[in-house]
Amino acid sequence: SSPTDNGASNHPNGTLQQLPQIIIIGVRKGGTRALIEMLSLHSTVAAAQNEVHFFDWESHFQKGLPWYLSQMPYAFPDQLTVEKTPAYFTSSKVPKRMYEMNPDIKLLLILRDPTERVLSDYTQVFYNRLQKHKRYQPIESVLVKDGEINLGYKALNRSLYYVHMQNWLQYFPLKSIHVVDGDELIRDPFPEMKKVETFLKLEPQLNGSNFYFNKTKGFYCLRDHGQERCLHDSKGRAHPHVAPAILQKLYKFFHEPNKKFFELVGRTFNWK
Ligand code: A3P
Repeated sequence: SSPTDNGASNHPNGTLQQLPQIIIIGVRKGGTRALIEMLSLHSTVAAAQNEVHFFDWESHFQKGLPWYLSQMPYAFPDQLTVEKTPAYFTSSKVPKRMYEMNPDIKLLLILRDPTERVLSDYTQVFYNRLQKHKRYQPIESVLVKDGEINLGYKALNRSLYYVHMQNWLQYFPLKSIHVVDGDELIRDPFPEMKKVETFLKLEPQLNGSNFYFNKTKGFYCLRDHGQERCLHDSKGRAHPHVAPAILQKLYKFFHEPNKKFFELVGRTFNWK
């Protein structure tokens, strides 16, 4: 394959690698895998399989755009390429770098209730450590220190959406960033995906029968040309029990930051 003017790289069967026109920037545990899988149901979308971490990992970024391009899936010329790396949203150097690649890129950001996202984040780290036979701390001892919310806990920072959104809005206009309601995507994915289709100006193709609720999984699964599949077992895990008093503290903690986020994006969400 050889690079062409638009940065695309050709393949004999008519497909080519292209830089993404769409990026799912986060948030970690927001439902980014569900979103990219659901978007892939659309025939004009070609999705990268893995998280690329181009803009946030120095060792990758230094390799430059040719390397980034080489990570992209082979797509037909009329398809749009999408990649997802949830860590982009919370990495402050990413917006400028992405803007310099393509100021007109379309960004998707999927968010969940910030408290729920913290619990999901904890659960992910918990299982990673369990797998590596490492020690882990019970949820309440990471959330609370000396009777107060432990501000040193990184997962809390990732849920301060307005802090990160401010960085993005330094470079991209609001109309370039579509916020997907991750709680709604769990509850009823089709309407949420219709909005994504509209934002991306895709020909309306997705329909209700692409999604069906699987009682065993406890989540919606996908139906693609009659083939049914659910997301991996690591998606949709039970969260640890947290004492109601601590949960209340968390809801209260996020109240102001949430308000700031709503003001930034001119829209509200049903967060506790
Ligand atoms: P939990 O496993 O904590 O419930 P990400 O892909 O960004 O890591 O997000 C994972 C989250 O996606 C899961 O968090 C789950 O709640 C959510 N999700 C949304 N739709 C889903 C679906 N159809 N199947 C499984 N998980 C889904």
